[in-house]
Parts: sequence; structure tokens; C-alpha cells
Amino acid sequence: MDETGSGAEPLIERAREALANAHVPYSEYRVGAALETADGTVYTGCNIENANYSNSLHAEEVALAAAVSDGHTDFDRIAVTSGARDGVTPCGMCRQTLAEFCDESFPVLCDEGDREPGSTYTLGELLPNTISQNTLEAADEADGDR
Ligand code: THU
Ligand code: ZN
Repeated sequence: MDETGSGAEPLIERAREALANAHVPYSEYRVGAALETADGTVYTGCNIENANYSNSLHAEEVALAAAVSDGHTDFDRIAVTSGARDGVTPCGMCRQTLAEFCDESFPVLCDEGDREPGSTYTLGELLPNTISQNTLEAADEADGDR
């Protein structure tokens, strides 16, 4: 219970709701994500697996794609859960995908079930020394100096 007595963090609840639509015939491991934009809109996503395995979409990238294609580029935080509520964190690929739009202080809430409120990491903790647009611009300037 949180201090309001209403149970789990609402963003984690939204991620849990997204689990229902996961398409996971291969791993049977459902993942849900809920991404909150700077204006408070929440976009959810679930994992969508594919028979060729490598085309599988991750819940976080589905949520991000929905938000960006709707015109959002400013994000406040993301919640991630699995059917097991096992504290799953975004994989390396999803960390990098989030880093395209979110800075190192961006909070990532991970659902640990009854262990409320779960764990919150910053994106910088999960993915230090990220390659970003700044990296490429700095390299371009360095090239220009040579
Ligand atoms: N999965 C996600 O959806 N997000 C992550 O970042 C971790 C992994 C999915 C991919 C696959 O469908 C299943 O979890 C098992 O790896
Ligand atoms: Zn991922």
C-alpha cells in the first residue's frame, strides 16, 4: 500500500493492465510498460513476439513508439512489469531506445509485486556513458578541428 492506501503506484498499475494484450506464444513471458509524458498522458505497451524471434517487439519500445508517433518527445518516467512482477528492468536495447529521448535522470520504475513500491532506477544508472546525439555532434566538431 502507498501512503494513500490505494495500493500500487498508478503508473505500475497501468503497466500491469498492458500485460493483458502481450503476444507471447514463444517465451510466455509477458511484459508491460507505461510511459508518462511531460503533459501527464500515459502510453502503454506490451511485448509482441514473432515466429522468427528476432522481430519481437519489447513493451517499452511499443509504448515509446505509440507516444512518439502521437507527437510526444518529452517524458517524465516509465513503469515496467512482467506477469511474474519480478522486478524486470528494460533490456539493453530498450535502455538505449529510451536514451534517445530521456536524459540520465529519467526514472524507471520496476514492479516487484508485493514489495511496494518496487525499485526505481535512473536511466543513467541502467545505461551509463550512453551514445547520444551529443556524442555524434562532439565527434563531428573534433573531426572539423583535424
Ligand atoms: N522483453 C520486453 O518486452 N522488454 C524488455 O526490455 C525485456 C524483454 C520481452 C521480449 C520477449 O518477448 C520476452 O520479454 C522475453 O525476453
Ligand atoms: Zn527491451
